[in-house]
Amino acid sequence: MLEKIDELLAEVNRFTSSNKDEIEQFRIRFSGKKGILNDIFAQFKEVANEHKKEVGQKINALKQAVETKFEELKNATASTIIVEKEDLTRPGFPAALGTRHPINLVKNRIIEIFKSIGFAVADGPEIEDDWHNFTALNLPEYHPARDMQDTFFIETNPDVLLRTHTSSVQIRYLEQHQPPVRILSPGRVFRNEAISSRSHCIFHQIEGLYIDENVSFADLKQTIQFFTTELFGKSKIRMRPSYFPFTEPSAEVDVYWGLNSETDYRITKGTGWLEIMGCGMVDPAVLKNVNIDADKYSGYAFGMGIERIVMLLYQMSDIRMFFENDKRMLDQFVSL
Ligand code: DAH
Repeated sequence: MLEKIDELLAEVNRFTSSNKDEIEQFRIRFSGKKGILNDIFAQFKEVANEHKKEVGQKINALKQAVETKFEELKNATASTIIVEKEDLTRPGFPAALGTRHPINLVKNRIIEIFKSIGFAVADGPEIEDDWHNFTALNLPEYHPARDMQDTFFIETNPDVLLRTHTSSVQIRYLEQHQPPVRILSPGRVFRNEAISSRSHCIFHQIEGLYIDENVSFADLKQTIQFFTTELFGKSKIRMRPSYFPFTEPSAEVDVYWGLNSETDYRITKGTGWLEIMGCGMVDPAVLKNVNIDADKYSGYAFGMGIERIVMLLYQMSDIRMFFENDKRMLDQFVSL
C-alpha cells in the first residue's frame, strides 16, 4: 500500500495542465466522492495497527499534495485568462500616417508641368498584346530591336505580355482619336531584367505624344527644354542621335547638370551631362498602322524612366529603396 501511495504522489507531482476541464477531471479523479483518496481512506481501515501511523501520514501527504496541486493549477489558469482577455481601457496604437511615394510625387509634378502646356493624361493596360506593345510601334516579329526589351510573355499565349514600355498607350490612344493629340501616359512597365540585384523587373515610365499638322523637331526640342527648366531648373540640353523603331529621327536627351559638387561629378561621371529620356519624330509607319494620314500629320514622342528622375531630384543612390517600403525613407519626401 505504501508503494501504491508513493506512485500516486509522484503522479500528482508530475501532473500539469493549463486546461480547465483537465484540471477539474484531475480533482474529481482524486478528491471526488468515488475518487482515489476516498478509496484509500476506505482501505486504511484494513491496515495493521503497527503500520497505521506511517500509512496515515503518507495518505495525508497525498491528500495535501492533491489539494496544493489543484489550487496551483487553478490559479495559474485564472491568471492566464486575465492576461489573454483584451483590456479595453488600454490606449490604442497610434496609426502611422502614410505619405505619397516619391515616385508618385515626381510623376504628379511631371504631369503638372505638361498639363500646363496642354497635355492630357491617357491610360492603358499593363497586360498588353503584341500589336500594341510591338508590331504597331514598327517593331514587327523578329525585329532585332525587340531584344532591347526583355519581355515577360505568357507561355500558353505568346500574344499576351506585360507591357515593356508605355509607348503602347500611343497606339491605343491613336486608334481611338484623330489629331490633334497631346497626351502623357504614365505607368508601370515590366522587363525581365532582374538578373542583378540593382535592377528591378518593375519600373515606371512617362510617355509623351504630340501629333498635329506641322509638328517639327524644333517643337520637340523646345518642349523638352521647357520641361527640364521647370523640373530641374536647368535649361541647357543636348540631343544625341539615337535609334528607336517608332521614331525617325530619334534622339537621347541629356541635360546639363553641372559640376558644382562631388555628387555632380559622381552622377555625371565627370562630364556634367545626364541622360534623361529618349525621343524623336513619330515614324510615319506608326501613323499608318493607326490609320492616320502621315502626309497631313506629323508628331513627336518621348519616353522617360521615372525612377531615374526621382533619384536625380532627391539625390538617392540606390534604386532598391523605392520598393523596400521603409517608412523612414518614405517620410522624407512628403512634398515636392
Ligand atoms: N519606349 C522607349 C523605351 O522604353 C522610350 C522611348 C524612346 C519612348 C523614344 C518614346 C520615344 O516615345 O520617342 O526604351
